[in-house]
Amino acid sequence: MRFSDFGSRFSSGTGTGSLMRDLSRLPSLPAGRTAACRLGGGNPALIPAVMDRFRTALAELAADTARFEATLGRYDAPQGDPVFIEALCERIGKRDGLSIRPENVLLTNGSQNAFVQLFNLFGGSVCAEGLRHRVLLPMAPEYIGYGDLAVGDDLFVSRRPTVDVLPGSRFKYGLELSGLGTCDDVGLEEHDRIAALCVSRPTNPTGNVLTDAEIDALVALAESRDIPLIIDNAYGAPFPNIIHVPATLPRSPQVILSMSLSKVGLPGARTGILVADAEVIRALAEMNAVMNLAPGSIAPGMTAPLLASGELEALCEQHVLPWYRARADRALQLFDELFGTLPVRAHVHEGAIFLWLWFENLPISSAEFYQQLHDDGVVVLSGHHFFPGLEDDPAQPWQHRHECLRVSFAGEEAEVIRGLEIIASHAHQLYDGAA
Ligand SMILES: Cc1ncc(COP(=O)(O)O)c(C=O)c1O
Repeated sequence: MRFSDFGSRFSSGTGTGSLMRDLSRLPSLPAGRTAACRLGGGNPALIPAVMDRFRTALAELAADTARFEATLGRYDAPQGDPVFIEALCERIGKRDGLSIRPENVLLTNGSQNAFVQLFNLFGGSVCAEGLRHRVLLPMAPEYIGYGDLAVGDDLFVSRRPTVDVLPGSRFKYGLELSGLGTCDDVGLEEHDRIAALCVSRPTNPTGNVLTDAEIDALVALAESRDIPLIIDNAYGAPFPNIIHVPATLPRSPQVILSMSLSKVGLPGARTGILVADAEVIRALAEMNAVMNLAPGSIAPGMTAPLLASGELEALCEQHVLPWYRARADRALQLFDELFGTLPVRAHVHEGAIFLWLWFENLPISSAEFYQQLHDDGVVVLSGHHFFPGLEDDPAQPWQHRHECLRVSFAGEEAEVIRGLEIIASHAHQLYDGAA
């Protein structure tokens, strides 16, 4: 079979594909291990109070003939369920003082799908005025899922962050502001043009939350160039609200806000939400029509009443946020106990569902470390996947890219504890062996 260049990218395997396969497949266990530790994927926790409420919401939808028939028996308009969209405008408008109208909102089949649409709407190899339109990720590490989804090649350029080493085996990335306005040092070529900026906030994989000042700097850049700033709010407020530091949503028309129902607990329902300027939404609605006819309507149909009444936000506030806060605290406490004597640091945890661990001067690469752990029944993600658009620069190598692991703490608590113990024991052996 002969694939196109675009097709070959998929037939030879992708980072996102390997992540999703790891999610549904257990590693084979070595002798002596009785269970695997699945700390790799982005599955949210099954929080009992939240799952119970979604179960009854689904039953309520099924019991209401008119709503049931409209939701399952009809295609929605390409923009998505108007009742859900109306409720979203009302709630976000109230909560964040943003003036959002239905023409500013679009639903997609998951926010991953939204990014396929957005990145190809603004970027890709298709050129205007002979220029190659590229998406700038202002601060790598960034979400693995952005890689591979552009129709054209070389979509991304990214920048290294500043790295602040903090007391207590912690560290924090920051936005490198120098050169940001000119984009001089991001590896752009003469025929390149920055067509959009994109950040996840809270960031997957690091758990970092860009400060309001950092976001303001990006908004200013977007406004000065008349390009969009895409903010991926998959873990942010108002839902799922897995965010532990104050963070304001900016009010600029340049901002495209992406949200999702996945991390609240509905990843199987595949519902993404975009809030943007009406012109952008119109173009995306056409894409929705061509690619999907209409977005799926089950999750919007079932959650619209919860969104309208404020119950969805209350569930996040009362159950989702405290659940992940407790998990993060426990995981970091364990990290301190197990890794305290090693040159290993955890990124400060400000949101999302992962620990991002930096093994300074690790004697092997993070990809090799991943494999070693996998062979011992522990599935994590090697950090090197999370630098889309950041090429290895022989003149200024950055070893850090090959020294990090992402560890999810959303799964079974016993697996998280055992997994961290096994990672620590391997790390001790590696550093001891190198000493
Ligand atoms: C930062 C971020 N953005 C987007 C997504 C895509 O989520 P979904 O397509 O389930 O909405 C994920 C999933 O893990 C994510 O972590």
